[in-house]
Amino acid sequence: MRQNDGLTKLKPKPTPSANRFQSLDLLATLVAVVASDGLVLFANSALEDALGISRRTIEGTDFSQFFTQPHILQNALQGAQSNEFAVLRYDTWLQRQTKGEPLLVHVVVAQTDQPAQFIVELLPLEAQARQDREERLIDQAQANNELIRNLAHEIKNPLGGIRGAAQLLEMEIDSRELKEYTQVIIHEADRLQTLVDRLLAPHRRPHVVGDVNIHEVCERVRSLILAEFPRGLKVVREYDISIPEFRGDREQLIQAVLNIAHNACQALAEQIAAGEAQLVFRTRIARQVTFGKQRYRLALELHVIDNGPGVPDSIKDRIFFPLVSGREGGSGLGLTLAQTFVQQHHGLIECDSVPGRTDFKMLIPLP
Ligand SMILES: Nc1ncnc2c1ncn2[C@@H]1O[C@H](COP(=O)(O)OP(=O)(O)OP(=O)(O)O)[C@@H](O)[C@H]1O
Ligand SMILES: [Mg+2]
Repeated sequence: MRQNDGLTKLKPKPTPSANRFQSLDLLATLVAVVASDGLVLFANSALEDALGISRRTIEGTDFSQFFTQPHILQNALQGAQSNEFAVLRYDTWLQRQTKGEPLLVHVVVAQTDQPAQFIVELLPLEAQARQDREERLIDQAQANNELIRNLAHEIKNPLGGIRGAAQLLEMEIDSRELKEYTQVIIHEADRLQTLVDRLLAPHRRPHVVGDVNIHEVCERVRSLILAEFPRGLKVVREYDISIPEFRGDREQLIQAVLNIAHNACQALAEQIAAGEAQLVFRTRIARQVTFGKQRYRLALELHVIDNGPGVPDSIKDRIFFPLVSGREGGSGLGLTLAQTFVQQHHGLIECDSVPGRTDFKMLIPLP
């Protein structure tokens, strides 16, 4: 295996025939245009991002040195050059310069219309799986929302009638014993009403758009959480204060983050009792990220991380679905609402959970 540090520049950087390839920057897949000797003529921005080094550094170097098995690419290019095949595919590891872990990629080497130029396309296999999962999540969420809205409306209408009738009935009867029954009807109708109101909340509430500072959102949630859990919980703030403000609905985002943080605190009950509970709010900027079927140049990443027992395996795949709860007395709406609010900002919430570390990541595109 060849060492990748200290990239060997074989030639000075080729003059940008690059302009021809500029449109490759729009792709979410990693693409390089290389000469038959493996020299990089153009690297698109997704590739720059994945390697963690600039295009100027990549271009003019031997592309094969970025792989843990450089000879496969060298052989592929030789084969393509001698017209043994038009397209060759294989899986290998891309050695990233700054980000440590190699990245498993599916490589496609194809000829171009130029005799000595080849396109090398890399599809990160994990990213592909994640993207598929996200797309599924979004489609499911949309279907869910539709279902919920219709169902909630159907419940809401007769509910008013039931409550009204119980009230009238109560006025007509004298027996205290019987009044207890009408009280049960009224009380349960009110409880259902609250549930239905929560189900309809994201669809009814007007979307108030203004400039949102994500750290103000986090600070609000932090103070609400600390007011409720004053002892035994440490809230750690790791803010990247360079994150710009963005247009959004502040109250909705506070509600979304609060729902996530609130779940964490509920899961942390034992750790809070032992005085060992920790909640981290971490903000970061993510560059060139793909989510929700789109690629964004810049996105905000907010992690809410707790050191609790983790999401139960039995509901892990379904926690964003309505009415899914792993908690005694939970209505299973907190995360559904949070996901809906974040999606209204064209964002997405993901969860990564193992016992001792649960990370809810909220992604929102930045301008
Ligand atoms: N940080 C976490 N750690 C462990 N489990 C979690 C965490 N966050 C969510 N969960 C699990 O996901 C379930 C769903 O959460 P969600 O907020 O949607 O509903 P809920 O908390 O049960 O009810 P509601 O929020 O509507 O009162 C929770 O019941 C809990 O089992
Ligand atoms: Mg909840």
